[in-house]
Amino acid sequence: MNNVIIGQSGGPTAAINASVAGAYVRAKELGAKKVFGMIHGIEGLINGNIVDLDNYLSNPTNVELLKRTPASVLGTCRYKLPVASQKEEDYIRIFDVLEKNDIDMLFYIGGNDSMDTIMQLSDYAKEKGKPQRFIGIPKTIDNDLPVTDHCPGFGSAAKYIATSVKELIRDNQAADPRKPTVVIVEIMGRNAGWLAAAASLSKSDDCSGPDAIYLPERDFDMDKFISRMKEFADKGKPALVVISEGIKLSDGTYVCELGGKVATDAFGHKQMSAACKVLADKISAELGLRTRTVELSTLQRAASHMASLTDIREAYQCGYEALNAAAAGETGKMVVMKRTVSAEAADGEWNSEVPYFCTYGTYDIHSIANCEKMIPDEWITADGCGLTEQFDRYARPLIFGEVMPIIAGGLPRHLVIAEAV
Ligand code: F6P
Repeated sequence: MNNVIIGQSGGPTAAINASVAGAYVRAKELGAKKVFGMIHGIEGLINGNIVDLDNYLSNPTNVELLKRTPASVLGTCRYKLPVASQKEEDYIRIFDVLEKNDIDMLFYIGGNDSMDTIMQLSDYAKEKGKPQRFIGIPKTIDNDLPVTDHCPGFGSAAKYIATSVKELIRDNQAADPRKPTVVIVEIMGRNAGWLAAAASLSKSDDCSGPDAIYLPERDFDMDKFISRMKEFADKGKPALVVISEGIKLSDGTYVCELGGKVATDAFGHKQMSAACKVLADKISAELGLRTRTVELSTLQRAASHMASLTDIREAYQCGYEALNAAAAGETGKMVVMKRTVSAEAADGEWNSEVPYFCTYGTYDIHSIANCEKMIPDEWITADGCGLTEQFDRYARPLIFGEVMPIIAGGLPRHLVIAEAV
């Protein structure tokens, strides 16, 4: 094996660096001379901005620290690699950097859009007869990549969301019952509701769970929403509702767009935020109720103090398996996870004792890039505002286990790659 390079792209997560750790460790085990990192993803690579990861990770303590460091340690980007027929100079520069540095394997950790980069590069290499191999490593808090059972990053964000929602419910229920407040919690996830759905995991014998969860998988009906809030108020009930940032009216307008124009990124994604404010203003204006809005925003993808051990382990393993796949000659694939559910577990209640296993494989990138996986219809309750037991069984094992941060000066310590900051 010659040298390899690893890059990170798209929205960061609390687990994405564990995949760098797994890829780095396996590359070294397989005899890679050098393991490079792209600084700020493919854009950095195009500009020849790469770093020798041995400078940071040859010490095993730093590998452990990296697993506990949130966000993208190498820096991220949201760069849409144009097709080669439109801008071949990007490809010429990328392959030039690879060839000059004897890099014969490239690994890109990301979501749907980042997998487009792996697809373009592997197709180009094939067309031009170039020997380099390209493997995608899944990552997204949105959990919307197809084929894989779930995505690294989702479990940790889900654990943080369920924990935060549980704490917010506690706070709201303690308030003066004569002045009930409607709390609206806005969760990321774009057009898929997996993350908002994770708020339902807060429900247990010591917590009633959210009063309603509004998902992008269902059209948002403003009138029904307001009358539901009125019902809560009429009963003197302090309500907590969860909304996905991507909820849309039946005409396709995002609720956040009712608050003003929103920006669009290179992939055509609307940058969503503040739908909770739109709804809170509507509730105040129409019902005169007290409201409070909580936008978890980037906290939900950066909260490594509430990371799921299952998630961190799986993210590490996805990085590790990517190296195995490339070393075995694969290219143009993404690592995927397949859940092995024991019959016992499928019939019983999930708890930390129930066996949960995932096996790893790879899948053709053409069936994955740019695709979004939604929550199955039958996992959403008939009223469209809740999740069934099936969702709970699917998501709960993903939040199991804790990863203790390495604390210094009373706070979690992080690994920093100087070139990326
Ligand atoms: O794709 C991950 C994600 O966190 C989405 O849930 C969210 O809509 C988006 O990224 C936000 O991206 P940015 O931080 O670039 O605005």
